[in-house]
Amino acid sequence: MSRVLLFTADPEYDTRFRKAVHGRLPGEVQTVFEAALPATPDQLLSRSVGTMPTVVVFGPGMDPHVAMRLAGVFDIQRPEVSLVLVVPSDMSLAVAALRAGFRDVLDQDADPDGILGVLSRVCDAAESRRRALPQGALGGVGSYGVPAEPRDDSRVIVVTSPKGGVGKTTIATNLAVGLGAIAPMNTVIVDLDVQFGDVAAALRLAPDHSLTDAVTGPAVDDALVLKTFLTVHPASIYALCTPTNPAEGDLIGAAQITHLLDQLSGQFQYVVVDTAPGMGEHALAALEAATDTVFVTGMDVPGVRGLRKELDLLGELDLVPENVTVVVNAADRSTGLSVQDIEATLRAPVDHVVPRTRMAAYATNRGEPLLQHAPKDKAARQLRALVTSFAPDRPIVRRGIHRKALVRS
Ligand SMILES: Nc1ncnc2c1ncn2[C@@H]1O[C@H](COP(=O)(O)OP(=O)(O)O)[C@@H](O)[C@H]1O
Ligand SMILES: [Mg+2]
Repeated sequence: MSRVLLFTADPEYDTRFRKAVHGRLPGEVQTVFEAALPATPDQLLSRSVGTMPTVVVFGPGMDPHVAMRLAGVFDIQRPEVSLVLVVPSDMSLAVAALRAGFRDVLDQDADPDGILGVLSRVCDAAESRRRALPQGALGGVGSYGVPAEPRDDSRVIVVTSPKGGVGKTTIATNLAVGLGAIAPMNTVIVDLDVQFGDVAAALRLAPDHSLTDAVTGPAVDDALVLKTFLTVHPASIYALCTPTNPAEGDLIGAAQITHLLDQLSGQFQYVVVDTAPGMGEHALAALEAATDTVFVTGMDVPGVRGLRKELDLLGELDLVPENVTVVVNAADRSTGLSVQDIEATLRAPVDHVVPRTRMAAYATNRGEPLLQHAPKDKAARQLRALVTSFAPDRPIVRRGIHRKALVRS
């Protein structure tokens, strides 16, 4: 015996729906007349009176973006409830809806037999599924979807530099791709260049969800829901990209970033963070969460001096990270600077020197990480050495001398 909850603002659709199923479907139908979907499954289910519905139908005219997002959350938190989305007759939303977690779709112009056909199929399947679920999984609010114990061995690797255009995104994306081979589906890259982030472009991704979804709404309280907002890249890594609208990124605060990185580090072995140039509030929040920091500079005097200033500033803020890697990127001989010059100005050793290569720039433009596109390229080799330095069998090098050198005395 099924309980069907119809969510709609349209009384005419309610009448049609009830006529179609009345006396022909065992169970009862309850309607909630609201135009906007609530943010979480439990908020939605709390609108129903009496026992839990087995099937929830999202009526015509619901915002598809909100509906899909909520379906993904239902799928994790409330798998015992089956969702149906009423879609326009051209079925343009059908595939996206099924992928998002809806069990079925219903043509909004379907005749009574059509409505009954879909509903009885979904109700039967829902009943079978409920029988198969463990007893404790059914019923009370919040009883399902308890995440596993968060892990505490993860590494949060933050890539930062005072200047733009020095190769942070190139390094962060390749680092994530390389770590994806060490820890497949256990590596995530987060783009914290909230206004002008280009991780999505560098990995040629078209994300359905962005940082905003990850730091607002149901993802905040549930790391498994958060995972549904990540985008999978073929290198077996997840990515969390920036919103397409730069203004949206501005609304994200440092505390939200801190919480996000805490959630992700509880789920993933490696969290790679790309940042905007300089020490904005998001970069500082990331540095506070970092287990490892990769500082990047080009081979130019203003860039190296800028990095020295950044290190001094971090010392003043008591934010000097314990595990530091310094990368000189896009190195070439024509600059008149040597690595020794750079080390002297930085008063710190340089760990990796990544040469300037045509392939590196070409790979960015194609949206294919260099490690995948041209693994034999000279820059790719150095990037691989950087990846290897984070392998689990490598001891974490806590260089006291390095740390002292970084903190201004
Ligand atoms: N080693 C390199 N050789 C050649 N071009 C590079 C190299 N590293 C980065 N680039 C190019 O420099 C530009 C800026 O790099 P990017 O990673 O976006 O810097 P950032 O994130 O610091 O602003 C990109 O077009 C990229 O392809
Ligand atoms: Mg960048």
